[in-house]
Amino acid sequence: MKSAVKRIGVLTSGGDAPGMNAAIRAVVRAAMHFGIECIGIRRGYHGLINGDFVKLDFESVSDISRRGGTVLYSARSLEFKEEAGRNKALATCKLLGLDSVVAIGGDGTFKGLLSLANAGLSVIGIPGTIDNDIACSTYTIGYDTACNTALESIDRLRDTMKSHERCSVVEVMGHRAGHLAVSVGIACGATVVLVPERKVDYEKDVIEPIREARLGGRTHFMVIVAEGVEGSAYQVADKIKEATSLDTRVTVLGHVQRGGSPTARDRLVATYMGHEAVRLLAEGKTCRVVAMDGDKVVDYDINEALAMKKDLDKEGLQVLRDLTGME
Ligand code: F6P
Repeated sequence: MKSAVKRIGVLTSGGDAPGMNAAIRAVVRAAMHFGIECIGIRRGYHGLINGDFVKLDFESVSDISRRGGTVLYSARSLEFKEEAGRNKALATCKLLGLDSVVAIGGDGTFKGLLSLANAGLSVIGIPGTIDNDIACSTYTIGYDTACNTALESIDRLRDTMKSHERCSVVEVMGHRAGHLAVSVGIACGATVVLVPERKVDYEKDVIEPIREARLGGRTHFMVIVAEGVEGSAYQVADKIKEATSLDTRVTVLGHVQRGGSPTARDRLVATYMGHEAVRLLAEGKTCRVVAMDGDKVVDYDINEALAMKKDLDKEGLQVLRDLTGME
């Protein structure tokens, strides 16, 4: 099959996520398979604006899948949101002879692709974020690793909370979504999980489940708070202390959740997605986001994907309610 594109620019943009390197590797190796050249654009859309690039070949992406972060660096480019910045980026595409771009990131990254598509480039987005908040995809690259990283820290916290009979309030990332908090909360056996998608009734959602657990004989408590919840983990801890007199400690896990070697799941999904992105371009497709529908790799029109909404996993929420007594 003769490929519809000749030279792909690949970039990572927005918050980095473990598994992005596996996606880059898959894009480069698949491109070679389809007879397409591949240029790595460094620092996301900044790189397109500033002509910051690196030629990628078979060897240059060898042994990167197991590494955290992104070898292409990432950035959130404000300049690209301005017309002048976009024009500079298009000039770089012309100079480098790029006829297509694959961007790995979140919704903001995909919006950026639309402006390149308007100028005639073929573009494909790949969902990469630890937040799992891309509506068109049931899974985003980095989520599993972030869940496991958070869990490892929470398991350690539990040891010391148990020894001191304390209440641990742990803030996890997730931007404005609670997917990470729900998964981590279920997996660590939290007493309470707070997410931005549900308004918090402190008495009913926080204090009651802790009291119930206490009556059942529990002497230490794990409360998971998504960073998007109104207020802060410190306020949640103060309210718990005030209502129960429990000794509380707050841990904000922060960027530690974005690092580390990607899990098998993240490497696999990233590799399938990277391969699919190039296959679509070779076939002449453009303006698509590669996504997961359960275990299946699918793709959507970018505009359609951006208009979609994603709810928290209903089954997960039900399990949480049944096991914690939360409403
Ligand atoms: O989108 C990924 C994410 O880690 C969010 O969970 C978090 O809100 C944000 O990025 C943090 O961004 P930054 O690295 O710019 O502080």
